Amino acid sequence: MGSMKILLISFIYVKIFTLIFAYDLQHTDVVLLGGTGDLAKKYLWQGFFYLFQKYSNENSTFSFTAIGRTVYEEGNTKLREILTGNVKCGKENNEACEEKKSEFISLVKYSHLKTEDEYKTFCQNFSKKEKSTRNGHIFYLSLPPSAYVSTLKTLSKYCYRNDDQIWTRFVLEKPFGRDLESAQQQANTIAEFVRESDLFRIDHYLGKPVVKQILSFRKSNKQTLEPLLNRQYVDRIEIIMKETIGVKDRTEFYNQVGVIRDVMQNHLSELLALVTMELPRNLSNSKELEEQRTRLLIKVRPVRESGILTGQYSKYLEEAIGANGNLNQSKYTPTFAAALLRIENSRWTGVPLILMSGKMLDERSSYIRILFRERVFCVTGCTDRNSTHMQYPRQLIFQIGHGDVPSPGILVSKSLFKPVWSPGVTELSITSKDSLIHGQRPGDFHYAVSKDKHEAYESLIEDIYLGRKESFVTLERLLLLWKIWSPVLKSIETSVKRIYKEGADHSLNFRIDNDHLVFISDSQFDIPELENSIVHDVKQIISPTDMQMVPSMFMGENLVCKDLIFLFHSLAERIKNSAEMAVQNRNVFHLALSGGNSPVPLFQILAEDSDFPWSMTHIWQVDERCVSKKSDKSNFLSIYQNLIHHIKIPFFNIHFMPVDINGRICEESDKGDNQYEDAVKYILDDLKFDMILLGLGTDGHTASLFPGEKYSRFLSENKLVAYTKSNDQSHRMSLLLPLINKAREVIVLVTGKSKHGILQKLSEITSNNSELPITFVKPTDGNLTWYIDYGAWIG
Ligand SMILES: *[C@@H]1O[C@H](CO)[C@@H](O)[C@H](O)[C@H]1NC(C)=O
Ligand SMILES: *[C@@H]1O[C@H](CO)[C@@H](O)[C@H](O)[C@H]1NC(C)=O
Ligand SMILES: *[C@@H]1O[C@H](CO)[C@@H](O)[C@H](O)[C@H]1NC(C)=O
Ligand SMILES: *[C@@H]1O[C@H](CO)[C@@H](O)[C@H](O)[C@H]1NC(C)=O
Ligand SMILES: *[C@@H]1O[C@H](CO)[C@@H](O)[C@H](O)[C@H]1NC(C)=O
Ligand SMILES: *[C@@H]1O[C@H](CO)[C@@H](O)[C@H](O)[C@H]1NC(C)=O
Ligand SMILES: *[C@@H]1O[C@H](CO)[C@@H](O)[C@H](O)[C@H]1NC(C)=O
Repeated sequence: MGSMKILLISFIYVKIFTLIFAYDLQHTDVVLLGGTGDLAKKYLWQGFFYLFQKYSNENSTFSFTAIGRTVYEEGNTKLREILTGNVKCGKENNEACEEKKSEFISLVKYSHLKTEDEYKTFCQNFSKKEKSTRNGHIFYLSLPPSAYVSTLKTLSKYCYRNDDQIWTRFVLEKPFGRDLESAQQQANTIAEFVRESDLFRIDHYLGKPVVKQILSFRKSNKQTLEPLLNRQYVDRIEIIMKETIGVKDRTEFYNQVGVIRDVMQNHLSELLALVTMELPRNLSNSKELEEQRTRLLIKVRPVRESGILTGQYSKYLEEAIGANGNLNQSKYTPTFAAALLRIENSRWTGVPLILMSGKMLDERSSYIRILFRERVFCVTGCTDRNSTHMQYPRQLIFQIGHGDVPSPGILVSKSLFKPVWSPGVTELSITSKDSLIHGQRPGDFHYAVSKDKHEAYESLIEDIYLGRKESFVTLERLLLLWKIWSPVLKSIETSVKRIYKEGADHSLNFRIDNDHLVFISDSQFDIPELENSIVHDVKQIISPTDMQMVPSMFMGENLVCKDLIFLFHSLAERIKNSAEMAVQNRNVFHLALSGGNSPVPLFQILAEDSDFPWSMTHIWQVDERCVSKKSDKSNFLSIYQNLIHHIKIPFFNIHFMPVDINGRICEESDKGDNQYEDAVKYILDDLKFDMILLGLGTDGHTASLFPGEKYSRFLSENKLVAYTKSNDQSHRMSLLLPLINKAREVIVLVTGKSKHGILQKLSEITSNNSELPITFVKPTDGNLTWYIDYGAWIG
């Protein structure tokens, strides 16, 4: 009887004890699916160790399971290797940490789960454990996205508890769909098994230490900074992620995403929201934070095709071949993109936001840079670098990774304001004599670094554990982000990507032009390294002879007929006069040059003329052969060797025809003709070249318009540049007649005895003749002048 009583009392006691203390006890089961994969190896186990180190104690216990695709023996061995090799104690390599690490490693188990039944027993097993405590279940799906739906379905069936005592969190990694539609679809399917509140979508950028400081920095400087963060004071915002590495053997994956899906739709756009959203009154209130964030994203206009530039580093296709990638797809995969975004709200309307990212660029750096307008006009003391007013640019930079700073942090131009540093950062001074940081001397900045130095994944795993939803991507936000990018992704799917050289390729430089982004240079090629070509001494060629018999008209147009050398000098003079007139009237001279051998002496004469207004001249090509840019048949090479190489002309004034795109010669699908046409349209708003220099073939062809091709092609008003075929079926690119005939001046240069026959033939016909393309050259507003030498004239 007595022992019964004791038993009863002790039972009640135990019951009361559990009731009182159950709430303080928590056991968390972490299940990492894909636990031996790359991400797990590189970051996730370290993240979970950090969690374990920080939160495990007598009241808070953990167990960890790695789920892998390989059988137990093999998978477990691999897991042990990862844990011992990759989980680190950090600098303070103290004994306590090492002890904790051994404890952690011993807690991590490997499981090979394939069938639904195996998942079933597995989940029954762990939900039985630690009955009297509160339980947390974290399922981290470090899996290919194609496996998300089926895995979540299984997990939800066997492992999802609807119970106050148990919380369950499912963690997913990007990509979340390929576009708005697929993201929505995926979300709808997942929503059938998992509550949105239990889904944690990772964007690891949101876990970067400096990113975590953005809002608190804004808050700490509310008084000085917030009044400046708007269209009145901000000139532009740049959100940049530059990488020096390439895609390597991951082309198969990368072909599916490209740089825009990989980092711009998510990381960079998230950063955009953080710097431009209205500041929530209470930063710890995730609901308010999310509200402000979505309110901003709703106002971001979808990126337009004219607002985006894309490129691909020149070795990408080679890498794709090496990785047996789908070349057809690789060809269109952007590894570089720059986009112009606009926010349509009262705060930001009109402020350009540039998002840019690329692989194989000149430096590794990611940052948000807010450039403020200069509103002070200096009158005296302007050269004094110490003057606080005149230190331009005035900028606020969140350096998120790498770059030229000693450590990621926040930089504020001293001329802007003196920041109040938030508790999460420590002020540092940077001094460096010769290097500039974002265009300013290091000493011109106030600078602070984040106190928290943890890897993004460490802090995100902590946030999952604590249920801090604000560090994750909500469905609403995800769809808003896709709305910004989805249309443009579709429209550039098979657009030609500008090929760039690995490292510092200036041809990627671009500018904002109204609502467009344009590359500063039209050429996507590096100028070939060429030796100085020998300039023939043209002045030694024959002296003039009798000119009396030459008329001043040919085919109803002006004619200049001279001995060869005088002809060239006279033509050179004409070109220079036209250039000077054009520069005087319009500040620019657009000259289109033919290739071939005939004009070479002319180029050489022009090359020697140091008074020619080259800096105001744009050089275009009339036509080009479909050959490598280094082939000696290349028209450009001839123009380059004989002219461009010897003159001072801005690189971006040279417009050569894109026939060789990363070794792909005149591939129709590259649309090099459209590219060139676009350049013409863009730069010549009235489509009028000031001067076009044509040649004449013995068969009556001019430019690369050959007899026998369909004439409608050459004459069609809505096409200005096209691929054509010569008589011997070799391929060319050429300006077409509608464009040629718009020119202010057209010169037809005809030299050499071999041309006598065709001139004779032309003199005998009275009208245009589809067998003789030259007869269609009839400038509508401008004039045409024949430059014919005696050799061709007399025969
Ligand atoms: C564990 O819980 C007990 C009882 O509430 C408390 O006294 C103790 O401080 C807790 N230990 C830790 C490490 O929080
Ligand atoms: C379930 O637990 C039992 C006993 O602890 C263990 O032998 C078994 O391997 C576990 N099953 C799974 C699928 O983890
Ligand atoms: C801010 O929000 C958090 C979370 O909702 C709340 O606990 C806290 O009291 C709020 N602070 C203020 C000052 O309102
Ligand atoms: C290559 O891609 C284009 C555009 O995506 C497509 O139309 C074509 O069928 C593809 N060709 C092959 C061989 O896959
Ligand atoms: C500018 O400031 C530096 C140090 O703050 C000082 O050494 C230098 O003399 C100043 N220059 C001028 C022109 O005042
Ligand atoms: C061809 O010649 C005919 C008759 O002279 C003329 O009407 C027509 O406009 C010409 N076509 C072109 C494209 O020059
Ligand atoms: C041809 O046109 C140009 C530009 O309009 C003009 O400067 C030039 O004098 C004209 N030449 C002839 C020969 O008509």
